[in-house]
Amino acid sequence: MKKLIDLLSAEVCEAFEKAGYEPACGKVTVSNRPDLCEFQCNGAMPAAKTAHKAPILIANDVVALLSESRVFSSAEAVNPGFINLRVREDFLAAHIEQMRRSDRPGVTGEPSGRRVVLDYGGPNVAKPLHIGHLRSAIIGESIKRIYRYFGDTVIGDIHLGDWGLQMGLIIAELRLRQPDLPYFDDSFTGEYPEEAPFTISELEEIYPTASAKSKVDADFAEQAHEATVCLQQHKRGYYALWQHIMRISVADLKRNYDDLNVSFDIWKGESDAEEYIPPMLQMLEQKGLLVESEGARVIPVAEEGDKKEIPPCIIVKSDGATLYATTDLATIVQRMQDYHPDKLLYLTDKRQSLHFEQVFRAARKSGIVPEGTELQHIGFGTMNGKDGKPFKTRSGGVMRLETLIADTTNYVEQKILENQTLDADEAKKTAKIIAIAALKYGDLSNLATKDYIFDLERFSSFEGNTGPYLLYTIVRIKSILNRCGTEVSGLSIAPADSAEAKALQLMLSQMPDQLYMAYRDSLPNAVCAYAYELAGAVNKFYHETHILTEPDEEKKNGYLALISLAKRALEVCIDLLGFSAPDRM
Ligand code: ARG
Repeated sequence: MKKLIDLLSAEVCEAFEKAGYEPACGKVTVSNRPDLCEFQCNGAMPAAKTAHKAPILIANDVVALLSESRVFSSAEAVNPGFINLRVREDFLAAHIEQMRRSDRPGVTGEPSGRRVVLDYGGPNVAKPLHIGHLRSAIIGESIKRIYRYFGDTVIGDIHLGDWGLQMGLIIAELRLRQPDLPYFDDSFTGEYPEEAPFTISELEEIYPTASAKSKVDADFAEQAHEATVCLQQHKRGYYALWQHIMRISVADLKRNYDDLNVSFDIWKGESDAEEYIPPMLQMLEQKGLLVESEGARVIPVAEEGDKKEIPPCIIVKSDGATLYATTDLATIVQRMQDYHPDKLLYLTDKRQSLHFEQVFRAARKSGIVPEGTELQHIGFGTMNGKDGKPFKTRSGGVMRLETLIADTTNYVEQKILENQTLDADEAKKTAKIIAIAALKYGDLSNLATKDYIFDLERFSSFEGNTGPYLLYTIVRIKSILNRCGTEVSGLSIAPADSAEAKALQLMLSQMPDQLYMAYRDSLPNAVCAYAYELAGAVNKFYHETHILTEPDEEKKNGYLALISLAKRALEVCIDLLGFSAPDRM
């Protein structure tokens, strides 16, 4: 279906043409003075230049032709040549009704059908999932949903940090604690046990202990380093232990991400890049791209016109070890081979911006990524506490994601119980849904690149620019629709009979442009901003209209059809943000 603004433009363009002026001057925009008009056209000013005539005379000519329009209820020429427009209620209602019948409200035009690899989440195995990874998961999940809504094929890859020193640290620590395990017996040739020699909670204790130890104990640090090298060479016992660590951690991660309504299509990690590294190094050598720098092999990536210094991308260290950049470059090789993407998008915190700049340049320079494939990194800001510093637990430790969700859920549950709207059982379930909305909206409503302050009370409030407010608005509509006793699908939206009804219909007509902006610029916060405005228009309409007690059946049905579309539009928005609404709250 067409966008309302395009239909209005077409009408005004035609009038410009009929009056003998440049048709393109008829472009209509949403009014920036809603007190004066709903839409405006400023085309008489540019038209005046070619027509050698005062803009107001041109505006007058156009307005005269629009007086009989089936689209506009009023068209006014205002000095020096503005055209102020209001749309006809019946035309608007018919348009909105068409939107109500569409299976993807808010999307107009053909899907671009891009293939996108989305790299988000990025947790490190065996380290507990903490809030540093929260933003990547939340923003990534939303961008994935937005892209898909617009018809892209998105492959979401978690890209686990599963091959680094943390693995060596755990193995070295285990070796000290349980030296008799068969994994450490070089002469052992039998099958290793199926059960891991540790639980997830033990694992979560082992890593920080080992990490702290390695900082004060040089011997231990050396053992951990060696264990990492041996693992990377697939030493049999170590590799078997690594598989245990992976299995247990991945199960735990899945549970955490499920809680957050975040999912991935692919669970690859840094370890999967390994096999792509040797052939890639060979290719880079052959092309003469690797140069020697203090014993290391690097790709110079500085370009003319760089505003700041971009150091070379280090591919192999002087001791022969490969690095984060090597893994990322090799992962791109794998992704290009396996998925032929039109775009690769990465989400990490913005401290990794330079890393991605270097990797992207190396990928272009080496021809790993052709020109037609877009490379983008979105570097997001930090989630801070009220003191403006990165969010911590009360004792100053790293806040675990699980704890954050649990704390928010408890807080919301207390609120629901105080309101006495739900029984204890339903309150518990509903609190979880609301908590996720509070956390996600609190994050997504900010521009991703900015830092934000985590504010439990504000994020969980049922009023104001919050996730729970959107849910509350949806729940309110659900309750009316439940009580109305009619099946709304057969009804149709009626011409607006109040300013509030018209404002709501106009707000709905803006959905395509607002969502498209979110899609084009990968901006979940644009979805938030639109959903918040839409919810405001719904609530104003609700307060001014006696929906259920309206005696005129036809009017009442029109109201019901209108709020059912508003509900669906809001549900689309929150789904794009990655949360859902309860039935009651
Ligand atoms: N594991 C990394 C970290 O915690 C993030 C991975 C992001 N993705 C990537 N392809 N580098 O910092």
